[in-house]
Amino acid sequence: MNPTPRKAVLEMAPYHPPTGGRYGKLRLDFNENTVGCSPRVVAFLCEQLNREQLSVYPDYADAKPRLAAHFGVNLDQLLLTNGTDEAIQVLINTYIDDGQEVVILRPSYAMYRFYSELAGARIREVDYVPPKLEFPLEQLLAAITEETRAVLISNPNNPTGVGVGLPQIEKILQRATNAVVLVDEAYFEFSEVTALGLLDRYPNLFVSRTFSKVYGMAAMRIGALFSQASNIEYLHKAQSPYSVNMLAAMAAAEATADQDYIRATVAEVLEARTLLCDGLGKLGISSVPSVANFVLIYAGNRAREIRDALFDRAILVRDRSYEIPGAVRITVGTREQAARILQELECIW
Ligand SMILES: Cc1ncc(COP(=O)(O)O)c(C=O)c1O
Repeated sequence: MNPTPRKAVLEMAPYHPPTGGRYGKLRLDFNENTVGCSPRVVAFLCEQLNREQLSVYPDYADAKPRLAAHFGVNLDQLLLTNGTDEAIQVLINTYIDDGQEVVILRPSYAMYRFYSELAGARIREVDYVPPKLEFPLEQLLAAITEETRAVLISNPNNPTGVGVGLPQIEKILQRATNAVVLVDEAYFEFSEVTALGLLDRYPNLFVSRTFSKVYGMAAMRIGALFSQASNIEYLHKAQSPYSVNMLAAMAAAEATADQDYIRATVAEVLEARTLLCDGLGKLGISSVPSVANFVLIYAGNRAREIRDALFDRAILVRDRSYEIPGAVRITVGTREQAARILQELECIW
């Protein structure tokens, strides 16, 4: 007889992100950098790569101070992670016991629920309400009680593209006195709102960043988690010492040195987003105002059909109608890519 998994695992719904067959298509489905990372990162890796580098366990002594300086934090306020996903996992593993309450928003990034469920947490969800999908501050504050041990927020939120301001985040931090509060800033570079400046004032605040989005390094799996130094010490205890691979850490440090590339990418995406939203409007397709590098559109009862028709034209988008009726999420890349999807939408809409 096969061994029985933990109850939490038995009860989890499987999560199936498409993981294969995406090369060579116009990838507007995962909010990645649709052009790629800075060429400097690839050149640097090629230069650095040698047999010794690969044979030694990771040494972060060079990369970590460079990254801390880039983010404007002290070295002891930073934890390197294997993507944001590991940041969420380590946070939950450090602070949440079986049966304790975690508050998340719905819809939001799937991994908040995933790691909370895996830990056996009790999940309380607060809804973004369509069609506007504005940040539900009052409902969230009402949901946070003495029992709440974690509040997980994406700012801007995926898949809605909606952001929340710092005064609202402070209200959440002040309300969640018994909880850790994660502000996941995976799309910070597009919205430019960050809670990093609040770190010293709020001992319950944790902020995450990733190199998977504007930095164009999703395959490397690297991110960072920030908090007060004494919290980071606990997180270190709960993290495997070498979960971040050496090449990823080096590449991330190098990537932060090429801010011209990041600024140019952000500028291109913001122009492409305007072009896309204007074009959608002309086609009579309603969309949710976004402060990120993706836009949610409403396709009525044709969400899957639209996704499939675009797939047939080698364009990948994400059907989100299972959580918001009619919703399809489109990543914003370049102006040329925006023009291409608009052209195809005009044919199939
Ligand atoms: C809000 C949010 N956080 C984190 C991630 C994933 O980040 P990483 O690749 O660093 O694990 C995503 C990816 O879609 C996201 O939308």
